[in-house]
Amino acid sequence: MATKRETSRPKTATTFKKTTPVSATAPVKIALLGFGTVGSSLARVIAVSKLPGVELTHIYNRNVERKRVSDAAKCVPASVVWTENFNDIVNSRAEIVVELMGGLDPAEGWLKKCFAAGKSVVTANKQLIAYRGVALSRLAAKHGVQLVHGAAVAGGVPVIPGILQGLGGDQITRISGIVNGTCNYILSHMETGAEYAAVLADAQGLGYAEASPSADVDGFDARAKLCILSRIALHAELDPDAVATQTISTVEAVDFAYAKELGCTIRQVSRAQLDAKSKLVHARVAPMLVPLTSPIAWSHGTQNMVVTSGRFGGDVVFSGHGAGGEPTAVAVVSDILAVAQKSVAVELPVRRREVTGEFMAPHYLRFVVNDKPGIVSGIAGALAKVGANIDSLLQRPGYPKHSLPFVITTEACLTSTIEKAVAAMAKMDCMLERPLCLQILTVDDKAE
Ligand code: HSE
Repeated sequence: MATKRETSRPKTATTFKKTTPVSATAPVKIALLGFGTVGSSLARVIAVSKLPGVELTHIYNRNVERKRVSDAAKCVPASVVWTENFNDIVNSRAEIVVELMGGLDPAEGWLKKCFAAGKSVVTANKQLIAYRGVALSRLAAKHGVQLVHGAAVAGGVPVIPGILQGLGGDQITRISGIVNGTCNYILSHMETGAEYAAVLADAQGLGYAEASPSADVDGFDARAKLCILSRIALHAELDPDAVATQTISTVEAVDFAYAKELGCTIRQVSRAQLDAKSKLVHARVAPMLVPLTSPIAWSHGTQNMVVTSGRFGGDVVFSGHGAGGEPTAVAVVSDILAVAQKSVAVELPVRRREVTGEFMAPHYLRFVVNDKPGIVSGIAGALAKVGANIDSLLQRPGYPKHSLPFVITTEACLTSTIEKAVAAMAKMDCMLERPLCLQILTVDDKAE
């Protein structure tokens, strides 16, 4: 039976609904859509924690019999109804539907049916929330139910509830960090000498990676999460497809060696900041050089880290396991408890904002050339032409002359400026591959 809930939206501040301890009321019935890595971990966490006041009543999955007889199903109470018919969920007495299927279709349509049936939804579906989150939240409010998605970003790290509930009083102007566990797993292992392909295969085997590796390594998973964070922290609704991404697959072992000489390591960084004057959001997901003194450099394995910068409160760091069944299940259970206790923080209104990939930053350029005289002067010429100033030149000994990797770093310049120079350099006949161009994060870097 659906409970009656507030429908009004906040006007000026984050507000909280009246709290009722879960155990003081009849158990909240929940139905689960999807019994994969996170879904089965969720059932386990609920069973092991013996949470009072939460009762799992239904599990939906395609080919459900295969799931019902799996080892992962052993912790599921015998009373649970297993089904491959979504109508059994929407027609059930469950008050909260937990959506862990992922993807836009059929999840979006099914969520709408759940709202119409008076059911709140807890979801970890980052693509759905990134692309349709604002409209779905409005629809949920219209039906007097909740849509909560704390598990959609950074797995077990409570960055969404942390920002909503703990930082609602600040004006966050910038977010940056690591929100894809697979890329962090790959890059932090490459830092200690692992090969890209082997470590990607490990991440897939451990269940961290998306079904398509491209979603992780090319930045699409992180970009969806960055858009969700921009909405929560910057109150800016972004078109995920407009956010610039750069693959980590072109980063090589030699880049970690050169980065170390520069006092840095390499991480896939997602960053967004709101320009107070233009109201543009500067956003990018890309491998970047990160100073070893930055907390972002300290994240290893599947650890995620989000740093928020507030006008009044300064920097706040959120960190923990960003991928994996149980950490993500913890976030889902916490959302279930928040809905059950009617203590979900309400978001401030958001505005649609245009996105630009432009940042003012120093850059790292790595070339692989067939060595001959005049290469450095050609590169210097291309940089001088766009007005970019060289900061350092690094060439480690021992590489073969016919395939020589060396590095130039520049002083801060605009992304579009350095891209123009890289396009010109890529045409030089000594270049064996397109130069790798990475932003270097600095403490006081800013968007332009
Ligand atoms: N593939 C994602 C990651 C899973 O590696 O972070 C968690 O969203």
